[in-house]
Amino acid sequence: MIRSADICNHLYRLARERNGENVEIELNGVPVLLLQRHEDADHVLRARSDNYRKNMAWFRQALGASRFSEDGEAWRIRQALTHGYFTRFDREQTCTLARRYATQAVDRLMRDSAGGATALDDGVLRTMTVSVLVENFFGIPYAQTGIDLQRIAELMEYGSAYSFVPSGETGRLYLDGLRHLPALRRRVLEDLRIFRDGSVPAGPMLHDMLVADADPASDVVLEHELLTFFAAGAETSAATAGWALYLLARRPQVQERLRQQAERIASSNEDWGWSELATFDDLADFLSETLRLFPPTPIIARLAIGPDRIGPHDIAADQNVLISFVGIQHDARLRPDPWSLHADGTARKGAATGVNTAFSFGPRICGGKHFALVELMAFLTVFLLHARFELTTQDEPRYHWKAQMLREGGQPVRVIPISRPVDALATRSGSVVA
Ligand code: HEM
Repeated sequence: MIRSADICNHLYRLARERNGENVEIELNGVPVLLLQRHEDADHVLRARSDNYRKNMAWFRQALGASRFSEDGEAWRIRQALTHGYFTRFDREQTCTLARRYATQAVDRLMRDSAGGATALDDGVLRTMTVSVLVENFFGIPYAQTGIDLQRIAELMEYGSAYSFVPSGETGRLYLDGLRHLPALRRRVLEDLRIFRDGSVPAGPMLHDMLVADADPASDVVLEHELLTFFAAGAETSAATAGWALYLLARRPQVQERLRQQAERIASSNEDWGWSELATFDDLADFLSETLRLFPPTPIIARLAIGPDRIGPHDIAADQNVLISFVGIQHDARLRPDPWSLHADGTARKGAATGVNTAFSFGPRICGGKHFALVELMAFLTVFLLHARFELTTQDEPRYHWKAQMLREGGQPVRVIPISRPVDALATRSGSVVA
């Protein structure tokens, strides 16, 4: 039996052994077609998306029905509710927030390393991303919400544990988890009550969500949308930041070249923001390669509604189809040497690039893609300006999946301060870190 937590290790193995091929596999007794070809993923996610519904029973069980898990009309209502807010955000404000919280995060990581830590603390990166998310979309500092992100992460881990367990088997295999799940969900939903009771100022997005929640004709539940929003929006970006730091540490020359460019940007305008970062092409390439080599959501699940054909495979109704972004993004037909970082200007060209694939595509594309890219560009620029990143082990990663792909044991990176003229590092909030 494949434990859900191990799924990424299998995805990387299949990407090497059956490169460029779709594979019929059995996951815990369930026959599954695993797509590793971009053209076939495009068929399922875009061309025939009407025939493939999302298959997220596990996620719904842990986090509740939300925009992320639902299909058809239930999804359209939820998508219409939040999509405009997620896509039409103020990029300069996002950069300002990302600079502030990345400065705090890198400061903390440097102190951890000075104290002997040999791996990055995931919690520091998650606090950074959730802080930007909450303040950007709800206008209050995350620290004032009292939300315990650790509990949300735990809930997602339960959700992930059920991912590849055939229906009917859940109880037998995860009895212990099932016992704890209701109490944990209750605690998390209580944490989110402040968004309902008036403690959080009802900005436009929260206002619309409250109206939908109160509408007897809709089954939108505010807390379910929020929970998914925090889970989908904070954890993935934090995982990406972690993989980016690992890749910088693995490629010191690329790191140094990017740092010199970041310094040029910071010295051209100490108040740098999105207008400057939008033209930082080498960093955008590096980010795309991070997402290609280490997609934080490495796999997504669909269920066929009616019969279809994918290449030589006949698809029957209720056939499980998994799309492996790991397989697609390492397809040697599309890129020579797909296992290496391409820091030569080809990173965002052609099919199956990180930036075009890892956020999915078609109608169910990630709602927060542009927000994630803006904040990650700012996080990485701040990191490069403040610190150097060194590997603490040369071992290849072992992967751990809990709704996003992490590295077992944490990213083996040491964070070392760089001394530089202090005024070049002033953030818009006025805080300065040497
Ligand atoms: C690097 C960071 C991120 C990655 C790699 C990522 C990846 C993904 C992927 C692959 C999906 C599609 C799942 C599927 O088709 O089954 C998705 C959906 C979604 N993501 Fe993201 N995501 C990221 C950050 C964010 C952020 C920051 C937000 C919120 C601001 C967000 C909000 C959403 C939403 C709302 C959906 C559901 C879209 C829908 O079905 O309507 N994501 N994400």
